[in-house]
Amino acid sequence: MPYENILVETRGRVGLITLNRPKALNALCVGLIKDLGAALDAFEADDEVGCIVLTGSEKAFAAGADIKEMADKTYMDAYLQDFITVGWQRITTCRKPIIAAVAGYALGGGCEIAMMCDFIIAAENAKFGQPEITIGTIPGSGGTQRLTRFVGKSKAMDMCLTGRQMDAAEAERSGLVSRIVPAADLVDEAVKIADRIAGMSRPAVYMTKEAVNASYETTLQQGIMFERRLFHSTFATEDQKEGMAAFVEKRQPNFKNR
Ligand code: CAA
Repeated sequence: MPYENILVETRGRVGLITLNRPKALNALCVGLIKDLGAALDAFEADDEVGCIVLTGSEKAFAAGADIKEMADKTYMDAYLQDFITVGWQRITTCRKPIIAAVAGYALGGGCEIAMMCDFIIAAENAKFGQPEITIGTIPGSGGTQRLTRFVGKSKAMDMCLTGRQMDAAEAERSGLVSRIVPAADLVDEAVKIADRIAGMSRPAVYMTKEAVNASYETTLQQGIMFERRLFHSTFATEDQKEGMAAFVEKRQPNFKNR
């Protein structure tokens, strides 16, 4: 399927989506969000893909929602179109893991989209921020909520109230990103990590995502019970038998349900 605003390829069992509106620093216009949703649908349906990497350019992962597209919207436009909702949430409903590989600017909606992914790998030049306050508005796609959960209230307030940017080192220190890699290696490193995940048992991968995500939505006791029920259920899979037998036999596992 031809896309206007993204590039899509597979590398082995990894689906790679590259945001590609260089003239607008990958600003997230309606067309780009539609393309992204369609690419995620296609990878989700493809049994040969086990993990997805979402990246941008070396200068910008994405510089936010498209300001030129939204500048003249009325309240009624925004409310009735459910602006910034339709399409954007597709990332959060994907069952396959999505790694955000961020170089350059991840601002506003760009930072929010990275945070919707399962984890973030940052290049040394990555810069994260929620600058909406500087253009007279506030984050609209989860920035105030997800950033606060990642980095705590003090830093989230600081970033959302001043619009300041966080560099890769601060983002890693604060728990927003899981690893930092040299900019030149970003995509290769992200694909390598994604490939490792794509080699695991798919039911175990899905259950891991469900369990970690549940920790945001529930009490500790309920979360632990949910995790335990999923853990018990893995004993009904061939892959648990294979994984544990391989360990005992000192060989690599060959999971059937990848
Ligand atoms: N929307 C639309 N166009 C954008 C854009 C955006 N978010 N960000 C950059 N662009 C465009 C610029 O208008 C410019 O286009 P022209 O050449 O046609 O003028 C082009 O991309 C290059 O940008 P700059 O010349 O500004 O590049 P720079 O290197 O000087 O600065 C930057 C880079 C600091 C990222 C700066 O572009 C910037 O501040 N961008 C806006 C960031 C922002 O405010 N994002 C939040 C948007 S609101 C939002 O996202 C709401 C939400 O929660 C979902």
